[in-house]
This record gives sequence, structure tokens and C-alpha cells, in this order.
Amino acid sequence: MENYEFVNHILHGDCLHIMQKMNADSVDMVLTSPPYDNLRTYNGFIFPFQNIARQLYRVVKKGGVVVWVVNDATVDGSETGTSFTQALFFKEVGFNLHDTMIFRKKNPIPQIYRKRYNNEFEYMFVFSKGPVETHNPIMVDCLHAGLELNGTTYKNYSKSEQKREKMASPVKSKKIKGNIWEYVVGKNLEDQEAKDHPAPFPCELARDHISSWSNAGDLILDPMCGSGTTCKVAKQMGRNFVGIDISEQYCELAKRRLAIHSEVPFNKTRNDEYAQGHFLFQMS
Ligand SMILES: C[S@@+](CC[C@H](N)C(=O)[O-])C[C@H]1O[C@@H](n2cnc3c(N)ncnc32)[C@H](O)[C@@H]1O
Repeated sequence: MENYEFVNHILHGDCLHIMQKMNADSVDMVLTSPPYDNLRTYNGFIFPFQNIARQLYRVVKKGGVVVWVVNDATVDGSETGTSFTQALFFKEVGFNLHDTMIFRKKNPIPQIYRKRYNNEFEYMFVFSKGPVETHNPIMVDCLHAGLELNGTTYKNYSKSEQKREKMASPVKSKKIKGNIWEYVVGKNLEDQEAKDHPAPFPCELARDHISSWSNAGDLILDPMCGSGTTCKVAKQMGRNFVGIDISEQYCELAKRRLAIHSEVPFNKTRNDEYAQGHFLFQMS
């Protein structure tokens, strides 16, 4: 079988072993969410985090990013802090901690622990291999679009006197969105396709990250793809994908979700690159 035939497939297996067979510097973007401590059993898994992080650094292209969506388990009333430990280890293997983003849930699960506020967010760490190559920022409306400011609204902390030579320009109509992103979890129709998986992230979250950090034709890897959310959205957006999960049952679910969207064509340009052996696996 030609190597390139593994692109745009869901692969069943341990992501560590499968990534070891991938070429270095071959993936444009990774979007994934690992098991959170031992919070869920899924269908049984092994999670050698440090080796997975090293492999991710090896397979990602220079300028590419890893989006790592993660949270901590609460043990004996206190958070494990695993997400921070992992973030610091990603730095140790060579990644830059490019952006610590927040996934805020509009419909968080009610808290069962006492003496604390309801947990309603997860981290979305964005790690980059060197300076980020692709950023297509999501733009939002400015609250005060068009407003002409009489001087500055910022406090002046300089000790010496400062004067403005000219008036500030009117407030622009659009600005880059902030790094706290809000989603409803599990209620949208497209997310309900994933209900046989215990912890899928919203398609909308995948869409926002994929549009931000990749371009059409790029290769997106999800090494722990679960119900296949990343792969499904990547396909819808004209990206190529590789999905891996250690559970055969989740791989089947991911394949079913992808089949619903089979109308989206394989990206021709990149397919030619794969065929020319530019890329990717040596599967034994
Ligand atoms: C948080 S879930 C991912 C959910 C996914 N983002 C979605 O939208 O459906 C984590 C997944 O990691 C998988 N997993 C755990 N260890 C793995 C490993 N070593 N290799 C591949 N997959 C693994 C689990 O089976 C589980 O489906």
C-alpha cells in the first residue's frame, strides 16, 4: 500500500506507535484532547504523555501548532494541576507556549464539590514549533466602533509629562477576537452525532481552531481523535486529516461521522504531493 493512502483515514492504535511511523516535520497542525487524568476510563487506554509530546514535536512542521484541549481531575477536593505540568513539559521538548486559551462552557455541569466556584472552563494550550506560520484571526465587532476619542482612555503611567500631538483615530469597526472562546457543549445537532463518545469537544471549537491555525489543503492530525470531531471538521473545511484512537469502537464512530460528510472532495493539490512521496508514513 502506498504511504499516502493513510492520509484522510482513521487509524486504530496507540498514537505513540503510529506517530513513530510518520515522517518528521510532516503535519501542519494538531488539534487534540487527551484523557484528563483518570477521570474517564473510555474503553481502556494507555497514555505515555511524555513520549507522545516528544513525538508531536518531531512530526509537526516548523511553524506548525499543537492545540491541546485539557482539564484537571479533582481529587479529594483539589485539582491535580496535570494540565500545567503537561504545558511545561511541552516547553521542555522544544515547543513555544504560544497562547493559553480558555474554552468556556455556556452550559457547564453543575458542581458537586463544596466550598468552590463552579468549574466552567477548560484550557486550550496552543504550542508552536518556532514562530507560528499561519494565523487567520477571527475578527469581531468593536464595541465602540467609530467613536472619536478625545485623548486617550488609558492611564498614563510615565513619570514625565506626556502630550498627544494629534487626536487618536476613531475606534475601528473590527478587532481580533480575544482568547476566551465560549461554546454550548453537546446540544447542537452536529455534536449529537458524537453522543456515543463520553467526551467529544464541540465542532464549533474545532472549526474556530482549524480556520485560525491552518489553510485549505493542510494536514491536520488528531492523535486521540475519539468520535472524530477534528477529522470531520477538517474534511468539511478542505483540510486533510489523520485521526488515531486506541479504541476500535471510537474509530468506528469517527468513520461513521466522516461518512455523513463524504461529499467533500479530497484535496487534490496535496494528494499529488503525498503521491510523490513528499510525505508521510512508513506503515509496517
Ligand atoms: C478526550 S477524548 C477525545 C475526544 C475527541 N476530541 C472528540 O471530539 O471526540 C480522548 C481520547 O483519547 C483516546 N486515547 C487515549 N489514549 C490513547 C492513545 N495512547 N492513543 C490513541 N488514542 C488514545 C481515548 O480512547 C479517547 O477517545
